[in-house]
Amino acid sequence: MNRTIIITGGAGFIGSHVVRLFVNKYPDYKIINLDALTYAGNLENIKDIEGKSNYHFSKTDILDTAALERLFAEHKPDGVIHLAAESHVDRSILSPLDFVYTNVIGTVNLLNAAKKIWNNDFTGKLFYHVSTDEVYGALGDTGFFTEETKYDPHSPYSASKASSDHFVRAYHDTYGLPIVISNCSNNYGPNHFPEKLIPLFINNIIQKKPLPVYGDGLYTRDWLFVKDHAAAINLIFHNGKNGDTYNIGGFNEWKNIDLVKLLCKLMDEKLGNATGTSEQLITYIKDRPGHDRRYAIDATKINKELGWTPSVTFEEGLSLTIDWYLQNEEWLKNVTSGAYKNYYERMYGEEGREKV
Ligand code: NAD
Ligand code: DAU
Repeated sequence: MNRTIIITGGAGFIGSHVVRLFVNKYPDYKIINLDALTYAGNLENIKDIEGKSNYHFSKTDILDTAALERLFAEHKPDGVIHLAAESHVDRSILSPLDFVYTNVIGTVNLLNAAKKIWNNDFTGKLFYHVSTDEVYGALGDTGFFTEETKYDPHSPYSASKASSDHFVRAYHDTYGLPIVISNCSNNYGPNHFPEKLIPLFINNIIQKKPLPVYGDGLYTRDWLFVKDHAAAINLIFHNGKNGDTYNIGGFNEWKNIDLVKLLCKLMDEKLGNATGTSEQLITYIKDRPGHDRRYAIDATKINKELGWTPSVTFEEGLSLTIDWYLQNEEWLKNVTSGAYKNYYERMYGEEGREKV
């Protein structure tokens, strides 16, 4: 079957893996990658598929309603997979309004563009909204987030994502728009921008710079290899139930400090360092305000209903990820020049978080 799908945020971390999967797996589909190319968007991430005939790129901001209407009228997509977002919690603390604009208003703009072009003919149409487990808030020492867990966001980032989820469901309930939402745990893998824990620490180990662990380092996250998230999105897009929510996670919880120590050990082995070299870089610094203690996803529904399960263990995925960064130092150099330096100084420099 021929389909035309607009994927937003396809030059970013997860979006680039989703675009690649769809372009390669479905030569009969027309894939339009819609991305504004913010600091987090990088066409280098998808260089290998830019020449494919079923791939098109449009540099478009989801805040530009006229440009969205033009693009939807030109391509008449029957599917939208929406990943474009401001995605970093620390940046949302520095600059919350940017998150309201892109994540909330940008999402509503896309819903309006889809609603207009579909004009009540919803057969074969789908608006897929990619969201996060952070909308559910924080867990104590036990328990999991299920699809029924009440929303309780704490950061401006998660509040903006929760708001966008509510708008997507409201368009389903009010206008009948066919939708699915997935809420995924922490991703890691190739092309991850080095502002997030794993790629930041890989880069800092390469540079022999301090590894800034927030607070007591005992915060817990559930990590999933990015290609497994992309595979889940593919399954949900094709087989998910209209109006439903799917949680995606790795059943793979790590306390930050344990993860950092594993990363240091693997990096020492790969760099030929003496055991313990990278661990000496660990530096505890002042905590992130509103820091959620623990996330853990119950991924039973997607496993039972759609047969999805992660394909790699954390150790395998982390090893593949480190290898990718070591083989792509040019990519790392390019994304850490320029504006990244100002951000890094603001977050971690003299005026950033204090040491504890
Ligand atoms: P990212 O920051 O790496 O990429 C975001 C992309 O969106 C970039 O290419 C950027 O250029 C684009 N973008 C930003 N603002 C835009 C705008 N106004 N118009 C058009 N494009 C714009 O993000 P990511 O980590 O790949 O996350 C992708 C999606 O998945 C987000 O919606 C995020 O909330 C969600 N998510 C992320 C994770 C994770 O661990 N990274 C986990 C669960 C869910
Ligand atoms: O859970 C899904 C979410 O995971 C996504 O929705 C977000 O887009 C994504 O950024 C991620 O959010 P986190 O805040 O969990 O990821 P981050 O990599 O920023 O931080 C992971 C943990 O590591 C968190 O407890 C904070 C801590 N941390 C992070 C950084 C950047 C540190 O201790 N030091 C750091 O320098």
